[in-house]
Amino acid sequence: MRWDATEPAGPPVAPAQALGGPRSPGESLTPWLAVVIVAVIFAGGLFGYDQGVISGALPGIKATFSLSLLMIQVVTSWVTLGALAGSLAAGALGDWLGRKRTMLFAAALFTLGAAVQSLAPGALVLVAGRLTIGVGVGVAAVAAPLYAAELAPANLRGRFISSYQLAITVGIFLAYLINAQLSVSDNWRLMLGAAAVPGLALFLIALVAPESPRWLMMMNRRADAAREAHKVEPGTDVDAHLASIELALRQDEKAAPWGEVFYREWRRPLMVAVGLAIFQQITGINAIIYYANQIFASAGFATEASQATVTTWAIGGVNVLATLIAIAFIDHMGRRKLLLAGLIGMGASLMVVGTAFGFIAPEAQLAASPGPSAAGILTVAALVVFIASFAFSLGPVVWTVINEVFPAQIRGRGVALATAINWGSAYLVSQFFLSLVQAIGSSLTFWLFALFCVIGWAWVYRVVPETKQQTLEQIQHMWTQKHLGSSQ
Ligand code: BGC
Repeated sequence: MRWDATEPAGPPVAPAQALGGPRSPGESLTPWLAVVIVAVIFAGGLFGYDQGVISGALPGIKATFSLSLLMIQVVTSWVTLGALAGSLAAGALGDWLGRKRTMLFAAALFTLGAAVQSLAPGALVLVAGRLTIGVGVGVAAVAAPLYAAELAPANLRGRFISSYQLAITVGIFLAYLINAQLSVSDNWRLMLGAAAVPGLALFLIALVAPESPRWLMMMNRRADAAREAHKVEPGTDVDAHLASIELALRQDEKAAPWGEVFYREWRRPLMVAVGLAIFQQITGINAIIYYANQIFASAGFATEASQATVTTWAIGGVNVLATLIAIAFIDHMGRRKLLLAGLIGMGASLMVVGTAFGFIAPEAQLAASPGPSAAGILTVAALVVFIASFAFSLGPVVWTVINEVFPAQIRGRGVALATAINWGSAYLVSQFFLSLVQAIGSSLTFWLFALFCVIGWAWVYRVVPETKQQTLEQIQHMWTQKHLGSSQ
C-alpha cells in the first residue's frame, strides 16, 4: 500500500492516499462526502474518548476492585497495548475486508469493549474490555484516516485528515466533561459504558457509508468502484478517476520489500520519523492525559469534582483550542518552528511543575491533600502551558512529518513502523508513570520529562529538516542528496 504525493497528512495516516484522481479544484462537500467525514470524526472522537475517560474512571475503579498500583497501570495502559496490536493488523485488515468493513469491525470492537468494561465483575474482565477497545482504537487509528484520504477529493484531503486529529482532542474533552458530571457519584461504569453509544453510532454510519473505490479497484470490482465514485462525487469524471487509481495501483506492485525501510539511503527519514514518534510520547503527554486527576489531586485539589473541572478545562479544552492553532499555522510557519517553539514551552512548563512538586509534601503526593496550595495553582498554570505547547506542536506536527518524510516506495511500511513505535512508547509511559513517581517522586519524574524535552529540542534542531511547502518528491530528493553527500 502507498501514500499519495501532494498533501501532508495529519495523524497516524495509513497507506494508500494514492488517490483523489484528476478533479477540478473547488469541489464542495457532497452529502456522501459528509457521511464519510462524519464517520471519520466519530472514529477520531471515540479514540479520544477512550484516551480521556480513564482519568475520571480510575478513582471509582480503584475503590471497587481495590487495585494495586501495578493493576491501576495495567487498567490504564492496556488500551495502548491493544492499539499497538490493532494498528499493526489494520493495514492487512483494510485490504482483506475493505475499508468500510474494517471501520465496522473497529466500531463493533469499540461497542463490545465499552459494554464489557462497564459490566465487568472483576479487574481481569475489565482489562479484557480495555484490550478489546484498544484493538478497536488501533484499527480505527489506521483505518479512519486511510478511509478519509481515499475518499476525500484532493483539495479537501488535508482538512479531512486534520479533522480526525481534531476529533481526537474533542473526544478527550468530551470524556473529561462526562467524567466531571459523573465524578460526584463515582459512576465509572457509566463513564466507560458511555463509549458504546457513539460506538454504535459509528457502526450505523459505517453501515451506510460508501466503500472506497480504490479498494474496489484493488479487488477488480470496477463496476462497483464506478458506482461508488459517482455516488460520492457526482460531478467527477469517473473514468479518469478510476484510470488514475489503476496507475497508482500498478506502481504499488513495484513496492519495495520490507527490508528497504532500513536501507542506508533512507536511514535519515527513518530516524526522523521514529525519533519524533518516540519524543512525542517520552515527553509525557499521556502521563498527563491519563493521570491528570491524580496529578491535580497530589497538587492539592481535594475533591474529585474540583479535579475533574480543572482536568476538563485546563487540559481538555486547551488541547482542542491549541490544535486549531497548529492547523492554521502548520503550512505557513513550518514544522521546525512549531516543533522547536513547542518543545521550549513543554520543557519550561515541566520544569515549573517539577519545581512546584518539590514544594508539595511527599506524603501528599498521589493522595488528595486539603485545598490547592500556591504550588498547586502553579502546577495547573504550568500544565496549561504544557498542553497548549504540545497541541500546537508535537501533537499534530509529528504525525504530519511522519507522513511526509518517507519516499513513496517505503512510505506505507515506514509510517506503520513509526506508528507502532509511537504506541509502544505511549504504552511504556502510561504503564510505568505511577511506578516512576513512587520510585523517584513526582518532582524528579517531571524533571525527567523536561530533560527529554531539552534532548528532543537539540535533536530536532540538528536532525529534522523543514519540509513545509515541498512536494514529497523534493523531500525524497533531499534525502538522496544528503546520503550522497555523507557517503563521499
Ligand atoms: C498523540 C496521543 C495523544 C494526543 C493528545 C496525539 O497526537 O499521538 O498519544 O494522546 O495527541 O491530544
